[in-house]
Amino acid sequence: MNQPATAAHLAKAPAAPAYVSHAKLKAWVAEAARLTRPDHIHWCDGSQEEYDRLCAEMVASGMLIKLNPEKRPGCFLARSDPDDVARMEERTFVCSRSEEDAGPNNNWVAPDEMPATLEKLFDGCMRGRTMYVIPYSMGPLGSHIAHIGVELTDSPYVVVNMKLMTRIGRKVLDVLGGDGYFVPCVHTVGAPLAPGKKDVPWPSNKEHKYIVHYPETKEIWSYGSGYGGNALLGKKCLALRIASIMAREQGWLAEHMLIVGVETPEGRKHYIAAAFPSACGKTNLAMLIPPKAFKGWKVTTVGEDIAWIKPGRDGRLYAINPEAGAFGVAPGTSVETNPNCMAAVMRNTIFTNVALAPDGDVWWEGKTQEPPGELTDWQGKPWTPGCGRKAAHPNARFTVQSSQIPSLDPEWENPDGVPISAFLFGGRRATTVPLVAEALDWEHGVYLAATMASETTAAIVGKVGVVRRDPFAMLPFCGYHFGDYFRHWLKIGRGLKHPPRIFGVNWFRRDEQGKFIWPGYGENMRVIKWVVERCEGKGGAAETQQGRMPRYEDLEWQGLEGFDRARFEKLMAVTPEQWRAELKGHAELFDKLKARLPRELAQRRERMERAL
Ligand code: OXD
Ligand code: MN
Repeated sequence: MNQPATAAHLAKAPAAPAYVSHAKLKAWVAEAARLTRPDHIHWCDGSQEEYDRLCAEMVASGMLIKLNPEKRPGCFLARSDPDDVARMEERTFVCSRSEEDAGPNNNWVAPDEMPATLEKLFDGCMRGRTMYVIPYSMGPLGSHIAHIGVELTDSPYVVVNMKLMTRIGRKVLDVLGGDGYFVPCVHTVGAPLAPGKKDVPWPSNKEHKYIVHYPETKEIWSYGSGYGGNALLGKKCLALRIASIMAREQGWLAEHMLIVGVETPEGRKHYIAAAFPSACGKTNLAMLIPPKAFKGWKVTTVGEDIAWIKPGRDGRLYAINPEAGAFGVAPGTSVETNPNCMAAVMRNTIFTNVALAPDGDVWWEGKTQEPPGELTDWQGKPWTPGCGRKAAHPNARFTVQSSQIPSLDPEWENPDGVPISAFLFGGRRATTVPLVAEALDWEHGVYLAATMASETTAAIVGKVGVVRRDPFAMLPFCGYHFGDYFRHWLKIGRGLKHPPRIFGVNWFRRDEQGKFIWPGYGENMRVIKWVVERCEGKGGAAETQQGRMPRYEDLEWQGLEGFDRARFEKLMAVTPEQWRAELKGHAELFDKLKARLPRELAQRRERMERAL
């Protein structure tokens, strides 16, 4: 995207700091500045002083509100534009050379067409603003599983969020050296400021939004939104979409998975990676506190959203959390549902689109059973209980460093990763899918994950509560054709001497009255214990077409005595009518992917249908 530079503009562009030795990086930043024409360029050093200064500037400009330091020390509230509140899947593009490579799971535009569109939008888009250069590492600095990106952005909100969620600044440039590889990411809110014009609290572009990925050149360009995964480009754009492509090329896995450590009372440690669609309780499972009856069991957190997983020399899989902080959904989080998370967000946290209490604290639906008598809602309007509006946006978020999570695993920054014993795959399904089933083998596990479905949530713009197929919880995040992605999983499994066991789970089954049958949250430990027992070659199960399923007597019920066998059977029921419809849904998915679908999966579906 070369743009002719004006002499006046070049005269203003400062040189990179002396400590930047990477010639290609400097040239790329200068080229992006020629195109976007910021008033200033700031190379982020990642220091606390820089973070504090940017927060103070945003408080002065109205972009952040400082919360009561006695209630929430070091915490801020941001209110986004009401049109900029979630990831926009329909504005997200994968521009691979071949349309088929992007697959039906991505919006595709030809890579020689998209730049012309973007060039017009990016031309002068940072006028009146500062361009921040954020070198960041996804994964522990220098880890052989980590990768480096550099994000250019005109949003100071993005800088401070990236500081909490990744490792940023000078230390990253030290690892990058003079010629290390980095993923170039350019982001703008798409709202140039005319001289003397006052900024709005949340600049964005109402007309145009583009989140664009180029698989071949591994570039990311994001225009028009300042929110979450649209703007914090290390997360969904790099760590999932671009990383999934890199992972396929290089023989590893980039997954939408939390990672937890589970220690048995005897001190044996297992790590479990689990994939769930957005806003389906990943943060709760990642920070689970076992019920009292589970004496001696410990659950620790490695990650709550993304896992990068590499085969080790010993034939096992090893995972790192590429992030260093969480951008979690606030509504529904409480001291009952997730005490670890509530403790983590007591200080040094940025809240976005939650409600503000009169005492300078925050509130969201589900934080307490009784809402406060009055609040200022996420749009800055007065709010009282019963006014008919939500106080917090359903996709309101907190941004917090992992180091503040009380349940953090001691190995969470191990550069070699942690060994994975089991994978869990779970959707939000009111019917059909049992609480838990272990796959019969790796291929069956890939089938379970590939055919996952879920009711949609507020994490994306669009209808909430619609069941959609969401293979591996990667539907919005897989940067290439799902058929190739399934094949890659099959291939990785074939190369492992000790493959993790694979389980399908569903915490969200409902009864005839529409009530959840399973209590969920900490009680999910009952399923986790059985999973660990299976990994250790213990734990009873009945073998079925749908997998190996625990019988009532195979789960721990101490402390949940009211949950009787009849209720359990309801939760585990596999009914032929429902499964006939389910297999039809699988066939519809496979039909969409048929150009690249591995034959093994289609054949397995046919076998299951015949068996029904
Ligand atoms: C997220 C998401 O923000 O999955 O993690 O939407
Ligand atoms: Mn996610």
